[in-house]
Amino acid sequence: MADAPTIERPRNALQQAFYREVLAGLSARPRAIPARWFYDRRGSELFEAITDLPEYYPTRTETALLAAHSREIGTVIGPGRAVIEFGSGSSTKTPHVLGAIDPAAYVPIDISGDFLRHSAEQLSERFPELPILPVEADFLNPVELPAGVRGLPKLGFFPGSTIGNMSAPAAVDFLRTIHAELGEGAMLLIGMDRVKSTEILIPAYNDAAGVTAAFNLNLLHRINRELDGDIPVAAFRHNAIWNDDAARIEMHLEAIVDVRFTVAGHSFAMAAGETIHTENSHKYGPRGARLMLAAGNWTPIREWIDPDGLFALLLAEARAPETAP
Ligand code: AVI
Repeated sequence: MADAPTIERPRNALQQAFYREVLAGLSARPRAIPARWFYDRRGSELFEAITDLPEYYPTRTETALLAAHSREIGTVIGPGRAVIEFGSGSSTKTPHVLGAIDPAAYVPIDISGDFLRHSAEQLSERFPELPILPVEADFLNPVELPAGVRGLPKLGFFPGSTIGNMSAPAAVDFLRTIHAELGEGAMLLIGMDRVKSTEILIPAYNDAAGVTAAFNLNLLHRINRELDGDIPVAAFRHNAIWNDDAARIEMHLEAIVDVRFTVAGHSFAMAAGETIHTENSHKYGPRGARLMLAAGNWTPIREWIDPDGLFALLLAEARAPETAP
């Protein structure tokens, strides 16, 4: 991958990062492309479709937890906070939180400006009195919060077990960064998916209708579209496997036959059976979830779990856990 690119230089910082990370990921061994690149417009639509699938339990389980415990959530968190949602997407779970806690403001942060504006408009119809201050940004980088929420106590909202898509060091870095951003006295309401039987996990990431497969394969279409690629997408298949040692579902794109292709003027060859690793989705036991929060300087104070033990919603305070010497 040493030659100079033949495509026009990517225009903005985001496109440059896509270009860099795709070329580096296809050149690496094992080949791996970060999961955040799934979410172009089509990828975001496919993810929304995934959340409605019968096999994909996380979204409906977490939404049911928020609805079932809204009174207690409201009591423990209290009114007057600015709710900061990291990776708000379509903000479907947000009304449950906003309705429960009587907030002072809502700040959705998302990389996809289209989605962000659309969901902000919908929410302002439902909560006409609430100041809604969207921030278009990659929440993985430090974000400057709008001046309008300075001085207000904060509630970070990070649903969906999106933290599971990060490696442990990245998750801890993220938790520490948002602790610093939200400030002392802040709280964090976070969804964390539980370790469970592969009979539930594998279909959740390889559904009968093939929506997750389309979501995974869309990454190759996106590369072809945005980086002048000619990847033969039909020569790849979607794989979802459980890595027990790492407690995670891994998604891969596997070459079904030997393939050769170019991306941005660079040539690549993959043998049949070789894969591109596209996503990790870590699952947590109860202690692992609390330990992860503690490592990120958040002290867990409450936990809500559905009756089948599929998914956990944790509430934490922005302070390092007390430790014995
Ligand atoms: C966004 N994230 C929490 C989803 C997950 O379950 O890891 C993304 C996803 N990948 C395949 N299906 C859903």
